[in-house]
Amino acid sequence: MARIGVIGAGYVGLTTAACFARLGHTVVCADVDEARVAALGRAEIGAYEPGLADLVAEGSRAGRLRFVLGNAEALAEADFVFLCVPTPTGVDGAADLTAVHAVLREAREAVRPGCVLVIKSTVPAGTTERVADLVGRPDVRVVSNPEFLREGHAVDDFLRPQRVVVGSEEEGAARRVVALYAGTGAPALVTGSASAELVKYASNCFLAMKLSYVNSLAELCERVGADIGDVTEGMRLDDRIGSSFLDPGPGWGGSCFPKDTRALLSTAEDARVDFPLLRATIGTNGHQAHRVVAMVREAVGGQLAGVRLGLLGLTFKAGTDDLRDSPALAVASLLAAEGAWLTGYDPCVARDCGPVRVLASAEAVAANADGLVVLTEWPEFAELDWPNLAAAMARPVIVDTRNLLPVEKVVEAGFHLVSLGRPTPARPGRTGPDPHRL
Ligand code: NAD
Ligand code: UDX
Repeated sequence: MARIGVIGAGYVGLTTAACFARLGHTVVCADVDEARVAALGRAEIGAYEPGLADLVAEGSRAGRLRFVLGNAEALAEADFVFLCVPTPTGVDGAADLTAVHAVLREAREAVRPGCVLVIKSTVPAGTTERVADLVGRPDVRVVSNPEFLREGHAVDDFLRPQRVVVGSEEEGAARRVVALYAGTGAPALVTGSASAELVKYASNCFLAMKLSYVNSLAELCERVGADIGDVTEGMRLDDRIGSSFLDPGPGWGGSCFPKDTRALLSTAEDARVDFPLLRATIGTNGHQAHRVVAMVREAVGGQLAGVRLGLLGLTFKAGTDDLRDSPALAVASLLAAEGAWLTGYDPCVARDCGPVRVLASAEAVAANADGLVVLTEWPEFAELDWPNLAAAMARPVIVDTRNLLPVEKVVEAGFHLVSLGRPTPARPGRTGPDPHRL
């Protein structure tokens, strides 16, 4: 078992640290945020991430996981140091590597002989090779090991990943990093470092492209009288297309897709490669929040000024409390800019967000509202008491941007229901074609 240092105790760093401790390694996890380190010392993880708090508590109790303020100890005591620091959008959309560079400079003096520095932060192709000079230690290797976890599934994705990708110009160092994941059963791919870095961007951008495609397709369905649910059901049956990432929505968001699409476009521009697909992927997503606002405007009668709207869901997707780059908040800002009054309910959000006054239940946001807008696909929204909600509202109008609600029940309760890529008014009782009967 190895001694591992993890730098950065955010979503990725904390998951990495806790999961490596679960796999039997000894881990020191460092962060520069004093309050965060103090909270982690009490096993308070400060985020909704199923299973993670338990793993942190378990690792801490077993003496295999410690949290420290400042990076010195985590750098000095480890055979492998994982960099899990932020790489936000910087100038011209490129990834800002300030934190990665700072840690590598610190590592230069601090790490043990033969230490392997592993870049888990998402960094542009070519970074790992380029930054080896910053460390300037011939005995120390810098290796790329991108992370593919999804928020809300972080622990499962780390302990049972679909692949472990490690990139290095020296295969021996890469193989030693792969060996740390023994016990996960994941297939490993060892590549050059630029290829490993690109696998990460290529995957996220491909998924974003799929979603922009399906969001445009939903718009087309509305114009030609097709149903996006039926269309994607037909597509999902083709295993070359795959069955996931085909649900239309208010746009893709979160801490990764928006910044990673822009960063890959910036990499392509630097490399003088024209990448119109990626530009269109980003542009289509920028259009989506405006499209949702236009649907809401039309559903409530043509203007939003003074209209009371209740938003159901504020996080960027269900299963997380993360509000970073949430499409729900992008829609909220546009609605507020046109003069709508907004309340919101989200099972994972307790504080007001921007123009949205956050209330404690879906019933509370429905009371006297002129319309409801479903923005996050929390399953509990499909189970609401529709007749009661309709009775409590000033006007029973609902825009479902996740196509989550049970159409028949909602319409029967008297709602005017508008959804993405489906006929309005909805046809209760309509089901998709059953492939087994064809
Ligand atoms: P985060 O903001 O949740 O956490 C980053 C942590 O690093 C913070 O706690 C911050 O205080 C700390 N930090 C910043 N500078 C530091 C320094 N110099 N030394 C020590 N600690 C420092 O970020 P995250 O979501 O965990 O993302 C980290 C990286 O992983 C990014 O490159 C991101 O693109 C990538 N990534 C994120 C996800 C995700 O779903 N969040 C998934 C895959 C990859
Ligand atoms: C993503 C990648 O999936 C993960 O591999 C990477 O490590 C980090 O970025 P995450 O940000 O947690 O993970 O979110 P994800 O589940 O991929 O969803 C991204 C966005 O796409 C969300 O806004 C979500 O609502 C949206 N989405 C997803 C849809 O609108 N429709 C879908 O069918 C799937």
